[in-house]
Amino acid sequence: MKSKFTFLLIGSLIAIVTMALLSANISERKTEKVELNKTPEISGTDQYKNDEWQKYYPRQYSSWMKTKESGDILDLLKEYPQLPIIWAGYGFAKDYNAPRGHYYAIQSNTNTLRTGAPVDGKTGPMPTACWTCKSPDVIRMIERDGELEYFTGKWAKYGSEIKNSIGCANCHNNETAELRVSVPHLNRGLIAAGLPTFEESTHQVKRSLVCAACHSEYYFKKNKWTDADGKEKLAKVVTFPWKYGLNSEGMEKYYDEVGHTDFVNKISKTPILKTQHPGYEMHLTGIHGQKGVACADCHMPYTQEGSVKYSDHQLQNPLNTMDRSCMNCHRESEAKLKGIVKQKYVRKTQLHIITMDNLAKAHLETAKAMEVGATDEELKAVRQDIRTGQWKWDYAVASHGAFFHAPEEVLRNLSVANEYAMQARIKLVGVLAKHGVMDYAAPDFDDKAASQKLAGLDFDKMVEAKLEFKRTLEKEWNKTAVSNKTWNQDAFKGTDNETAYSKTVNGEYIRK
Ligand code: HEC
Ligand code: HEC
Ligand code: HEC
Ligand code: HEC
Repeated sequence: MKSKFTFLLIGSLIAIVTMALLSANISERKTEKVELNKTPEISGTDQYKNDEWQKYYPRQYSSWMKTKESGDILDLLKEYPQLPIIWAGYGFAKDYNAPRGHYYAIQSNTNTLRTGAPVDGKTGPMPTACWTCKSPDVIRMIERDGELEYFTGKWAKYGSEIKNSIGCANCHNNETAELRVSVPHLNRGLIAAGLPTFEESTHQVKRSLVCAACHSEYYFKKNKWTDADGKEKLAKVVTFPWKYGLNSEGMEKYYDEVGHTDFVNKISKTPILKTQHPGYEMHLTGIHGQKGVACADCHMPYTQEGSVKYSDHQLQNPLNTMDRSCMNCHRESEAKLKGIVKQKYVRKTQLHIITMDNLAKAHLETAKAMEVGATDEELKAVRQDIRTGQWKWDYAVASHGAFFHAPEEVLRNLSVANEYAMQARIKLVGVLAKHGVMDYAAPDFDDKAASQKLAGLDFDKMVEAKLEFKRTLEKEWNKTAVSNKTWNQDAFKGTDNETAYSKTVNGEYIRK
């Protein structure tokens, strides 16, 4: 009896100690910090050039440079030909690729057909705000011109100034190398949501907030202002819609309250909210976010090199670094864990495609109803369903990684989105019948070219104009940045390798 009791007691003691060690392991990792042996002495314009940080932090720099390895183009409009219909009348219908490494941010932004083909600093479809999550030079421009001037005017206004891709100064103070966020909209969003500011947050939370500065949902808030010369101007300021919380319902409520619409769908005339990429918001609702695991824990794992330990700055898919990114906390095999992640992707994709199909059909059926005489009043409830459904669908998938970061929240939003799309389609059957159309079938949208045509886009014309821009104005921007010494072109050799529509042969841009 006694020996059995002792055995049980020792057994449970062992279990308790093991569990304590395990949880200590997680919380220890949370507070773990690599000691800095140097502080940088970089000031002025140099702090915005990543290559200037190299002499102080060669490992962080060379691992950051490796984000260059993730440069392939994956054309998502080809992958999902529903998209040009869903986004008809908006830039994303023109060109939309999967994200690449941080090294490419400027080039992706310059190459995309969304930023158009400006011929000088005052032309083109996009506002300056489009640079905001692409470069440390944005901080320099806000310091030089003031925030409202930075957010005023066309994207092309800063073409020769903003050339350095996402880098050290986006996340680090140039005197202490401590983590920082230097764009004002993050703290404004946190305050609106009633959350601690970046500076008030714990170190572990900062390891996610540096990413939240960019990997979040935002819109361009219109702000009229008067400059020092008394000139009236309109700024479009990056703003996080977090006042009513960080989930899709809270943000939709905020957008409705301020009367915001990103665009009116050209096919169905529905006022649409385009979700950007609520990566941070989604992550918070997943199990890792809730347990306090930070973005950097998985995407910037600690790496040992001899006696030196540092954070891997090659931000990428953590499934490429599972031994360092996952296995400190998980006990199952890498293959098994990878299989679980894959399964989440398959589950998401099934519902993702069903929902997109229904949304695209709802837009096309609405167009048919308009064609046969349905009024705006008759289509009001239909358009409201499409608006809410499309917002939730986009919210679920736009950040790319959410199927893993927050699988339940993704599936919840997708199923509610699909319900709204179906409700719209059911209503449309009635509206169409009322106007004498009994068995309408929407046209096929099974390839990108057909969908872009339905969306009223002339792809060839857009590409020709873009290539002309690349042969002329972009080259001037590069020359100016080099002569101003704000950009070291050699550090970005080979960035301009490929787009969804062209390739580069001997430095010349050729149509694919
Ligand atoms: C997207 C944000 C981001 C960018 C860009 C970035 N870092 Fe970091 N860096 C971090 C985070 C997060 C940590 C971990 C900090 C911690 O927990 O104390 C870190 C840590 C560091 C450290 C502390 C030692 C270590 O390795 O943990 C140094 C030094 C450093 N980074 C240098 C650089 C340099 C040099 C660049 C540019 C080539 C750079 N960083 C770019 C986010 C960034
Ligand atoms: C200054 C804005 C900015 C910050 C800060 C930032 N990102 Fe990004 N991130 C981007 C942009 C823009 C892209 C897409 C670049 C492209 O496609 O050219 C991107 C792409 C990525 C990718 C895709 C990489 C690939 O190879 O496919 C990952 C993963 C990522 N970011 C994670 C993070 C994490 C984690 C942090 C914080 C430690 C972070 N990012 C901080 C703007 C930012
Ligand atoms: C527990 C680990 C983990 C944490 C924490 C985490 N991620 Fe991820 N993330 C992943 C994995 C794994 C994937 C890749 C899934 C896939 O596509 O196979 C991913 C994918 C991504 C992608 C998409 C990359 C692409 O090319 O499609 C981005 C962007 C991203 N994460 C950013 C973030 C940000 C920002 C945070 C914090 C707010 C974060 N992640 C937190 C593990 C993590
Ligand atoms: C800092 C610790 C930590 C890291 C790093 C980490 N995880 Fe986790 N993971 C957890 C915790 C804690 C849970 C919650 C389950 C629990 O409490 O047992 C979890 C749960 C999971 C689950 C099951 C939950 C779900 O959503 O179905 C999967 C799958 C998973 N992690 C995969 C990964 C992968 C893949 C990586 C690396 C890219 C990773 N984790 C990195 C701590 C971590």
